[in-house]
Amino acid sequence: MEEEAGAVSLGGSLPVPSVQELVKTEQLKAVPSRYIRPDQDPIESNPNASLQIPVVNLDLLVAGDLENASKLDLACREWGFFQLTNHGVSKELLDKVIRSTKEFFEMPLDEKKKFPQAAGDLEGYGQAFVVSEEQKLDWADLFYVVTLPVRYRKLHLFNKFPVQYRIALEAYSVELKSIAMKLVNAMAKSLKMDPQEMIDLFQDGTQSMRTNYYPPCPEPDKVIGLASHSDAVGLTILLQLSDTEGLQVRKDGNWVTVRPSPYAFVVNIGDILEIITNGSYRSIEHRAICNSAEERISIATFLSPLMEQEFGPAASLIANGARPNFLRTTTADYYKGVYARQLGGKSYLDTVRL
Ligand code: OGA
Ligand code: NI
Repeated sequence: MEEEAGAVSLGGSLPVPSVQELVKTEQLKAVPSRYIRPDQDPIESNPNASLQIPVVNLDLLVAGDLENASKLDLACREWGFFQLTNHGVSKELLDKVIRSTKEFFEMPLDEKKKFPQAAGDLEGYGQAFVVSEEQKLDWADLFYVVTLPVRYRKLHLFNKFPVQYRIALEAYSVELKSIAMKLVNAMAKSLKMDPQEMIDLFQDGTQSMRTNYYPPCPEPDKVIGLASHSDAVGLTILLQLSDTEGLQVRKDGNWVTVRPSPYAFVVNIGDILEIITNGSYRSIEHRAICNSAEERISIATFLSPLMEQEFGPAASLIANGARPNFLRTTTADYYKGVYARQLGGKSYLDTVRL
């Protein structure tokens, strides 16, 4: 993928080599310098092994169980992260998503190149947040698509998907939309926020999926799979395709490794929900690390308001004189600001903080 890099338009990313190919073709012993990351916190072998993110049972939560409601509330305030079990998506569907996603990345590079990211567009096979030829790179490839609203699907991508992949992805998209709406509704209840405000923001909002492919790395403690960041979106629901560890969450200044739990999701609060909840629920920094033994794949499904939608701290939360902690903005303006810079920490949220 040695294309000439043109001007960066807002929302785009410069072309970079496929790391999956790099690992395959060069029988790599040492990591090229562009991937060596002295800018990232060192990787410790097993930090905070006993500490784990909270677990929420969606089935019980929706049935009105108070213990799970308070677990959800605490998780969103103190961790910004939780694992979600009993979410109702069948193992059969998850297995199909897992299998067809693996098959997608196993396709030869020429096949994957049939899903190129157009200049100025993040959708397709490639990378994100690459804004200069000098910047350090993540040890990963990604595939990104907008899945909802259906009218925003890029047919030049969808129509070329392997059939099983498309079937699985479309079914998965419906299920994850439903789970996300259940979660934001439960969050509104816990916050004593008018749930209609969540519905207005998210029911007809955008859903997109970012599949991260982290190849094994001969020197895993010199690279980072996905640099430390907070998600700019409303809500993220992550599926890890195997029990290989890699996701780390920042907790009180330390990195906590999330232990994958089979068929559970990892859910996290994005910047937009932090703004909507006026800062009560927190969009926490996280990152993905690599290992030398095996690849790791994850699918992050993001829920956000529509691009042109304006949002700010929920009206029902600031109705009785509470001070708004953030400016109002639109999803598009927020993303433009985020995507125009290299991924790092959650500093962009500060630009709309009051
Ligand atoms: C992301 C993300 C973590 C992972 O895609 O935003 O944080 O484990 N992914 O892949
Ligand atoms: Ni993330």
